[in-house]
Order: sequence, then C-alpha cells, then structure tokens
Amino acid sequence: MRAAVIGAGVVGLACAEELARAGHEVRVFDPDPGAGATRAAAGMLAPAGEAWHGEADLLRLGVASARLWPQYAARLGAASGVDVDLRTAGTLLVGQDHDDLRQVRRSLEVLAAEGLRFQELGPREARAQEPTLSRVAGAALLPDDHNVNPRKVVRALLQLLGDRLVAARAAVDAAGVVTADGTRFDCDAVVVATGAEARTAVPQVRPVRGETIRLRAGDPPSRVLRARVHGQPVYVVPRAGGEVVVGASEEEHDAEPVAGLGTVVRLLHAARTLVPGLETAGVLEITARHRPGTPDNGPLIGPRAHSGPVREVLAVGHYRGGVLLAPVTAQAVRAHVEGSDVPAVARPFVPSRFTHPQHVTPTGQGRALTT
Ligand code: GLY
Repeated sequence: MRAAVIGAGVVGLACAEELARAGHEVRVFDPDPGAGATRAAAGMLAPAGEAWHGEADLLRLGVASARLWPQYAARLGAASGVDVDLRTAGTLLVGQDHDDLRQVRRSLEVLAAEGLRFQELGPREARAQEPTLSRVAGAALLPDDHNVNPRKVVRALLQLLGDRLVAARAAVDAAGVVTADGTRFDCDAVVVATGAEARTAVPQVRPVRGETIRLRAGDPPSRVLRARVHGQPVYVVPRAGGEVVVGASEEEHDAEPVAGLGTVVRLLHAARTLVPGLETAGVLEITARHRPGTPDNGPLIGPRAHSGPVREVLAVGHYRGGVLLAPVTAQAVRAHVEGSDVPAVARPFVPSRFTHPQHVTPTGQGRALTT
C-alpha cells in the first residue's frame, strides 16, 4: 500500500516507521520534525505514575505500550545506531508532606485495582533508595515506569525513515496529500498525526500547555521522581550526561505556547525543594508546547468518521502520553491502515467513541469498527 503520514512528532514518526517496516510505501510530511510537543516531552514511560481513577482503559493501553518499549528501544538503537537512553531504574512517586502523601496513596489505589506492582516506602526508605531527596513524608517505588530521551527517539526514527521524510506541510486532497508547492503523493491512506494542531480538523482535540526545563546537575537523581510538593505537581527526570528535565505544568488555553514565568518559578521551586542538590544545577533550556488533550484524556486512534475520498486514520490526542504510547499506536495504526486485527487494548480509542459510542467494541472482543 501507499501511505502518507502528516506530522513527524514521535507518534507520526513511529507510525511511519512501522508502516515502512511492514513493506508499505510511506512518506511523512512535516516542515520541522520533532519540534512540537515531542520537543518538550520528558520521555517518561509512566502508565502507573500517571494512572488516575476512571481511566482504566488508558492505563491498560499505557501498560501495553510500556511493555513494548524495551524491545522497541533496542531495535531502534540497533537499526539506527542511535542509543535512545532507555533507563529502567523505575520511578519514585513522592509525597513531600502528609497531604501530598495522601494524594500519592490515591494513585496507588488505582494501581492496586489493576494488579500493578508498587512498593510503599517510609521517609527513611525513600531516602535510602534515592539519597538526593530532601526530607519527604513518604513515597512509592513504581518499578515498571521507565524513561527514554524523546529527542534521541526522534533522531533514531528519522534515521530509519531516511528520504521518506518530506520537510513540508501537507494537506489531504482527493487522491492523497499535496504540499504548498504542489508536490503530490497519491496514496491509499493518510495518517493524521499532527498533535495539538489537529484541533482545526478534529474538534475533540484541545491544546493544554506544558513547560519543561532542562537542567545540568552535578548530582542528579538516579531515577525518575514524580512528586507533589506542598500541593504542586512536579517531575524530575534524569537523562544521560547529568541532564535533568523538570516539568508537569498544565494550562488550559489557546494562547501561544510560550513558557509562563510564574509557572517556571513554581516548577523550579518545587524541584529544588524535592532535590536540594539542584540548587547548583545549570539551566540549559526552557520549552513550552501544547499537549493534545481530549475529553477523556485518551488518544484518538483509528478511522476518521468523515473522511473524504482518501481514507484518513487518526493518531492524535495523546495528551500526556505521546512518547509512552508511540509503539502501541504505531501497531494499531498499521492494523487500521491494513484492515487487520487491531490490538484489543487500542480498540476503545477509536475516534467514533465520541460520535457513535454504541459501536465501539469493548477491549478483548472482535475487530475495531471502521467507519
Ligand atoms: N507525561 C508528562 C507530561 O505530559 O507532562
């Protein structure tokens, strides 16, 4: 088949690479690959750390994708020569004070209900596990929540895609896609993976701004820390070479994704309270981007309800989980494009759940509907 992918963030690139690996003729269109939400992403593979009440299907999708990541990262590394910095030391979910710890325990209830692994730690045990922590009320070790460097994942995927990347904007037309300079690519299916920009065509997508700050630290934490610090959510994510990414902000508006001073100050204050050694870290970069949010916080993966003559498959709305969900999304998109069996965990995320909820096959039964 011939397939075009519009959007070269981590999700679009993963879909394009999966389709190319399956032998299809693929082009991926983006004037600035990896420059959207992927640029700000911390790269946490954190289904457990981000689990919340009422989102069991999303948790299962995240767990399925997290399980694909070790092999996925190894394959990308071997095939492209780019080490994507997969770190498997797990995550500490930390409550700085006792109110914060109550919130952590609420998250653990969700994990317990799904039978996912965690280990509660008292203040001393938490600091024994992670000596860079300040005095905290308590924590939980999430041994299966890992992290990668999304910028390296993009580099690896671009390497594998080679000249299948077309550095231009493209729009869907009657026979495929066309770029502003009139270059055409006629195809059987178009995968739309344009992140928050999809909101112009997909009304369920809304922008949710997030800021991340890249630091360089002499004594970085040894694993991901996700915390509430006197009510402020924050994560501190170590990468190779002493790099540390701080983030967690979420702001609901359409304004340009420019980092807000107050937000950056709050994040950095929380990070330094949690890990006092960050006091002497260097600030390398502050980045703000729009996450693609959706009404149920889950992605839209599957046929677009009102496609024109060319079949459109959506891979949008990954909100806080684009990096985590890239491998499972790629598998599901490939199945939707080919008309084969869609992984059961991805079936609840067909776009038609918002327009024809009665048609969505529940997890574990039958095939995904194509509309
Ligand atoms: N997954 C981390 C974030 O969206 O901030």
